[in-house]
Amino acid sequence: MTGRFVTFEGIDGAGKSTHIAAFEAWLRARGREVLVTREPGGSPLAERLRELVLHEPMDALSETLLIFAARRDHLRHTIEPALARGAVVLCDRFTDATFAYQGAGRGFDLQVLSQLEAWVQQGREPDLTLWFDLPPAQAAQRRAAVRAPDRFESQDAEFFARVRQGYAERMAQAPQRFVRLDASADREEVWTQIERAAAQRPWW
Ligand code: TYD
Repeated sequence: MTGRFVTFEGIDGAGKSTHIAAFEAWLRARGREVLVTREPGGSPLAERLRELVLHEPMDALSETLLIFAARRDHLRHTIEPALARGAVVLCDRFTDATFAYQGAGRGFDLQVLSQLEAWVQQGREPDLTLWFDLPPAQAAQRRAAVRAPDRFESQDAEFFARVRQGYAERMAQAPQRFVRLDASADREEVWTQIERAAAQRPWW
């Protein structure tokens, strides 16, 4: 079995979580080992860094360096060993989120992000990225219904419009890796889109 690395992206409130669980079940039914993980986080050190990034005030450079430090630890201790065993790794956010949130959202230098990406990932890229795309106003309504906001979720509508644009730019740079899902549709319809994307790949 070849390990596969699948990432889930989108602005806060896009509805990734339920579909990650559904995709996990779909893969397990096919007999695959599945590892579900998230960023920032996914290893003991990276989870500690997550707490800082999500809750302590800091500038965009500190934020970016902590996120990439967490990512390196996560890759070394969680993602790479699982891929080497032949598992499918489902990761709730990865480097596209850094380009979208820190880059497009916060205005951080994209060239510096590309340099950090190359250093930290050493060529590792997701095999598939599912981008849950929906208008920021709709995402804000969904967020308001379920939980208190963290540092990113409390940003305004213009911030999330920039983040969305950041995802669109990442997709334009790697169209074969990305699948854009219309996350404004109801849950069953979004799941149908995911199944369709999965069925087009002979990996599972
Ligand atoms: P999220 O997966 O939305 O966590 P939860 O569903 O528990 O709220 O991710 C947490 C936040 O981290 C989210 O608002 C986006 C932000 N984030 C970045 O700003 N940059 C990154 O590189 C990553 C991975 C996440």
